[in-house]
Amino acid sequence: MEDQAVELSLRPRYLAEYIGQNQVKENLKIYIEAAKMRSEALDHVLLYGPPGLGKTTLANIIANELGVNLRTTSGPAIERPGDLAALLTNLQEGDVLFIDEIHRLHRTVEEVLYPAMEDFALDIMIGKGPSARSVRLDLPPFTLIGATTRAGLLSAPLRDRFGVVSRLEFYTVDELSYIVSRGADILGIEILGDAAEEIALRSRGTPRIANRLLKRVRDFAQVKGDGIITPDIAGESLKRLQVDPRGLDNIDHKMLHSMITGFRGGPVGLDTIAATIGEESQTIEDVYEPYLLQIGFLQRTPRGRVVTPAAYQHLGLPLPPEQS
Ligand code: ADE
Repeated sequence: MEDQAVELSLRPRYLAEYIGQNQVKENLKIYIEAAKMRSEALDHVLLYGPPGLGKTTLANIIANELGVNLRTTSGPAIERPGDLAALLTNLQEGDVLFIDEIHRLHRTVEEVLYPAMEDFALDIMIGKGPSARSVRLDLPPFTLIGATTRAGLLSAPLRDRFGVVSRLEFYTVDELSYIVSRGADILGIEILGDAAEEIALRSRGTPRIANRLLKRVRDFAQVKGDGIITPDIAGESLKRLQVDPRGLDNIDHKMLHSMITGFRGGPVGLDTIAATIGEESQTIEDVYEPYLLQIGFLQRTPRGRVVTPAAYQHLGLPLPPEQS
């Protein structure tokens, strides 16, 4: 099977199979049950948080639990208002429309979304110039699920139209160990508990990374070992993948090292860091920085980002004189 297809099958399909995010899960369970009891569409849901924590998975689960169809698209894919109108008019009552990267919707498209979300209506302009008029088209009640890496990137009017706003958090090592063991089960491979934990420790709180590492470790176990994932096999293959014991990769290292050697550990502005290591500011802010903040290797200050003593220690570097 292709990696992509395996990835899909590793994803839980119902809330009961979904590990972690307990608060979000418990709340959604109630909202879904209540909507079903009333035979209404679920209120619109905004899911936000760093990449790989299960926003798309949750959207699929919500549609499954509601027993409705799911249509998936993304902010940048909807180029014109007409593209959105086509999607909306093809929905059946109660369906879920999932818009990933919803912060990247074009302004003109976003404006079509407001009446659609609020009144289940589409305002269409007919004609041009003085004879132009607007016709209102009714839509079936539906649920919009929006996903974004940062809720702060959404315009206020759009954000305000979501009845449920849920933030996904990084997973604990225990939760990730469980996810890795479950994944191994689905893939039909044996993994020892300590090996699952080794992978979990290096997955930066992120199931998508845990499942990816699991698949690569499995390759090593099959080619270099007897197919069983032992802690030794896991440790050895993770070293080859250049993932360090806290899950930091080359780019994290490059970023921390350049902050330390070029800027005495900061404070240094995000754009400066980005330019120095040749990455996009947005990628650093959405993908790399959240985990480094979470584990206390970076701090945000009004004057910029600062490398913490914990990070120096992890990298085996001496603290600059003014900090030691
Ligand atoms: N696979 C990926 N994310 C998962 C989760 N939250 N629970 C169970 N399996 C997963």
